[in-house]
Amino acid sequence: MSIRTLDDLLAEGVSGRRVLVRADLNVPLDKQTGAITDDGRIRAVLPTLGALVEAGAKVVVCSHLGRPKGAPDPQFSLGPVAGRLGELLGAPVHFATDTVGDSARSTVADLADGQVALLENLRFNAGETSKDEAERGAFADQLAAFGDAYVDDAFGAVHRKHASVFDVPARLPHVAGRLVLREVEVLSKLTGEPERPYVVVLGGSKVSDKLAVIEALLPTVDRLLIGGGMCFTFLKAQGLEVGTSLLEKDMVDTCRNLLERSGGKIMLPVDVVVADAFAPDAAHDTVRVDGIPSHRLGLDVGPETVAGFSAALSQAKTIFWNGPMGVFEMPAFAAGTRGIAEAITKADAFSVVGGGDSAAAVRALGLDESSFGHISTGGGASLEYLEGKTLPGIAALEN
Ligand code: 3PG
Ligand code: MG
Repeated sequence: MSIRTLDDLLAEGVSGRRVLVRADLNVPLDKQTGAITDDGRIRAVLPTLGALVEAGAKVVVCSHLGRPKGAPDPQFSLGPVAGRLGELLGAPVHFATDTVGDSARSTVADLADGQVALLENLRFNAGETSKDEAERGAFADQLAAFGDAYVDDAFGAVHRKHASVFDVPARLPHVAGRLVLREVEVLSKLTGEPERPYVVVLGGSKVSDKLAVIEALLPTVDRLLIGGGMCFTFLKAQGLEVGTSLLEKDMVDTCRNLLERSGGKIMLPVDVVVADAFAPDAAHDTVRVDGIPSHRLGLDVGPETVAGFSAALSQAKTIFWNGPMGVFEMPAFAAGTRGIAEAITKADAFSVVGGGDSAAAVRALGLDESSFGHISTGGGASLEYLEGKTLPGIAALEN
């Protein structure tokens, strides 16, 4: 790979130099309290930050959080993340209350060697996500002024052509951080010559989000197991009634076509858990997929499906999993996701979990993270990588 790495930068010496690190600190927050519910993405960037601190760099971290619309919005402040990052680093993180304004300028200017600053949410600035090159470029100029070198460790955002991901590396000496490097190394094993059988499990709510990756994976995988909300559009395509379950009507023909072309590789649920309502305490039962009542909706895959999928997974030598099998946040509808996750950990296979939701599910269900080969911090990014797309953030590092 023609990408320079953090080790190359460290070998040059960074003591006293300002290093701008793009991280993906886009962590899930509790809707009521605003508390961080899963700090996996903060932990994932610690190896890079720790190495820079130790080498005496002035470390300037920037990230997005959520999808604010180009202006400050307190619910998306990175302030709480600065606190958590400081706890994990064991040293205070100097938080700038704006991204490129007075607070950011003085915070960066006041950094001593080996100290860390975090800038406020990049997306509080319209230039970050702008489609207009000049507007993005102007914002990138302001950001680049805070660094003598740039490290991209935001794997979850490498598929975004955003100022901090794509335009800043064109303005500064740039390298890939430890997380980006590890993610690319692992995912390239899946696009290269994966050991077979190669089994992919896809869940999540929308077929339309996963269509490109399904198309790209079908020729490569040995088995494609489909659960989650999106399985109902496939079941409908098989002529079954799905009650009031999630259904993308305009995708039914596409799913039928995929099933016809899949050569039997696609496995769908044979039973599902149906409920009266989308609620944690809703009355629910397990039914066969040809018996979904018209007034009920499917919120999880059933035990026979878990058994069938688990059997396929137990044969696998390589596994990629993206997307929960059901509404795992509600205990009544978590068994499917838990069962599949456990089957993956039991398989004698190299397993990769992709996607913020699936990674959060692994931790929320109390599963042992170390029993998976790799848990990616990227959702969209890992899928686009597997699709074989050019990722703007990686391309920018290659130049
Ligand atoms: C993610 O959560 O997938 C990444 O942080 C990217 O966020 P985005 O989808 O809002 O660009
Ligand atoms: Mg996303």
